[in-house]
Amino acid sequence: MATGMAAAIAKADAIRKASEAEKPKKETKKEAKLRKKKEREARRAARKAKKAGVDVGATKTFADDADLSSVEKGNAGKLTSEQARTAAVRAVTGVLSSKPEERDLKFDAFSLMVGGNHLVTDCSMNLNQGCRYGLIGANGSGKSNVLAALAQLDLPVPDHIDMYHLHEEAPATDQTGVEAVIAHVKEEVTKLEALAEHIAETSGPEDERLINIYERLDELDPSGSEPRARKILSGLGFCDRLIPMDRKTKHMSGGWRMRISLAKALFAAPSLLLLDEPTNHLDLEACVWLEEHLANYPKCLLLVSHSEDFLNAVCTHTIWLKPNPFHISEGVGSRGCTLKYYGGNYETFMKVTGEEERVQARAYEKQQADMEKLATFVRVNKANGKASSAKSKRRVLEKIQDEAVDKPMIREPSLVFRFPEMTRLPPPVMPFDKVSFSYSGKKEDYLYQDLSIAVDFDSRIALVGPNGCGKSTLLKLMTGELRPTEGTIKTAPKLRLGQYHQHSADVLDLDASPLAFMLKRFPPHTVPRGMGLPRSAENWSSYLTNFGFHRSNQTSPIGLLSDGQRSRLVFAMLAMNPCGVLLLDEPTNHLDIDAVGGLARAIKAFQGGVVLVSHDFRLIDLVAKEIWVCEKKGVTRFNGAIRDYKKILAKDMLKHRIMQRSFN
Ligand SMILES: Nc1ncnc2c1ncn2[C@@H]1O[C@H](COP(=O)(O)OP(=O)(O)OP(=O)(O)O)[C@@H](O)[C@H]1O
Ligand SMILES: [Mg+2]
Repeated sequence: MATGMAAAIAKADAIRKASEAEKPKKETKKEAKLRKKKEREARRAARKAKKAGVDVGATKTFADDADLSSVEKGNAGKLTSEQARTAAVRAVTGVLSSKPEERDLKFDAFSLMVGGNHLVTDCSMNLNQGCRYGLIGANGSGKSNVLAALAQLDLPVPDHIDMYHLHEEAPATDQTGVEAVIAHVKEEVTKLEALAEHIAETSGPEDERLINIYERLDELDPSGSEPRARKILSGLGFCDRLIPMDRKTKHMSGGWRMRISLAKALFAAPSLLLLDEPTNHLDLEACVWLEEHLANYPKCLLLVSHSEDFLNAVCTHTIWLKPNPFHISEGVGSRGCTLKYYGGNYETFMKVTGEEERVQARAYEKQQADMEKLATFVRVNKANGKASSAKSKRRVLEKIQDEAVDKPMIREPSLVFRFPEMTRLPPPVMPFDKVSFSYSGKKEDYLYQDLSIAVDFDSRIALVGPNGCGKSTLLKLMTGELRPTEGTIKTAPKLRLGQYHQHSADVLDLDASPLAFMLKRFPPHTVPRGMGLPRSAENWSSYLTNFGFHRSNQTSPIGLLSDGQRSRLVFAMLAMNPCGVLLLDEPTNHLDIDAVGGLARAIKAFQGGVVLVSHDFRLIDLVAKEIWVCEKKGVTRFNGAIRDYKKILAKDMLKHRIMQRSFN
């Protein structure tokens, strides 16, 4: 056996050398094809040998535990129970109209239904290599389902296209962060080798799909993989002082395991990378790093993100889930959407669609005026007995009516609300006096030391700083959930706080409908009068419309709502209680771009104090007047705007060389 392997390697080597020696100065096309074929055969032989246990030089970095039994794509087969439930009620149609051996994909007649509702109706989807697509659309329009339809092969994605779908955190196991990232690549290699063997056996070594697979296997060559994996993990915020990448994943929180999942995707760099809201668990630093990293992604990226900054920095194309024309009583998107393609990033998309809408509005107005004029002419001439001239003008009128442009769809804001205020209290309402805090209670573990700050009704603060520096801890000290280890926080007894954090949605009853849930949670006798807040089922329905819920999803179970729709419901709850200070920890997670704008308007109009932790540069830019940096066991005021802070972060990362490209 071993002799056989050695012979195979020797043969592979000999073929490569021979082909190199034979290579003429200037190859003809035919010769190049022949040479590539020989090289492929050589690589295949070498791989076979290696798989059988002979090390041909590559460093063996990972454990030998990969499963060869199934050839599945990336991580697509691993679904959470909620994703599996949605997959069971998803119906997708679509035909592959690009050539099966090509890497650029085109699907025609693509439609997608979930639970009997049309989300995407009869359109084409193009996904070309070298393009980075931003998939945008309102909350609940079906973005996550489009990604899942690709990843779970509801659409006929050819076998040789490798994918990674970022939709869940890495499992909690005994593997360290670094090991988990590298092990994923090993699984990929094993799957691809099995696939290559299968194709070679069934269709022969000439099959063109093998070219892609062998190229991909070369790319995934594990030699030198560990430093690359470490670089990606450090870019995503792992550092020895806080969360070391060598910590076992079972000792990491969900947010950090989500980063491991993201690191796996970036490390494997698949032909089709599907990222659903990748920045949700990241701090500003990691967002800046990821932005730069993905802006160089050389293959095909399909990205769902609600951050304008991020979409602008990363995307070369924008795909809009554009609502089909609908009846006003049904609500936006109730008749599904169509995929509409635009060249350029989100900023370009906004310019182009703005111009499109203006042109359409002008054409529509002119046409309405023409039709009005003709209708009057027909009416007057008919009344005056000039039937023949009335008839000819009616024909013209009918022709215009047949070719009429649609009334332009005005994109109304889908989140319109205000945070009600309580009576103003004199400052300071939340003074910190020499506050020190550590979770262990020990001095040497202090996260904050001798902190003297104050929040009042005029505060507009954005808290920034890397993950683990203590932003959420500071918010918990403000709410009283945590008590200072030393020092005091004398919060005004009458002060009422409005709070949003990443677990806010946990209070929702998934079996109830939004309407039933709100009626139960806020019985009429508990709702203050005179503030325009809902007190009857009728009022609740129009209240929920302002949060983007059209009639049908007001009455369907909350468990079937998209993530963004659930976040909107949390804001609907938050806006029911008058308060003096809003403490918002990552409030934009899951909200679509339009809703982030609605949230920004509500914060700006609020007359109380605001403390905000967010990775959304645009939101901070819109609402914050002060930027507080949590660092060195204290809080310092940054002298400048958030965009200046972003520039400093990017510069710092370049200085520390973690911004270098890691794709090759
Ligand atoms: N199991 C299900 N049964 C019925 N409808 C469902 C089910 N799961 C999801 N839906 C519906 O499908 C629609 C699209 O959901 P999806 O999560 O794809 O939207 P999205 O565009 O990703 O939204 P978001 O921006 O909030 O993430 C939503 O209106 C949701 O209510
Ligand atoms: Mg989604």
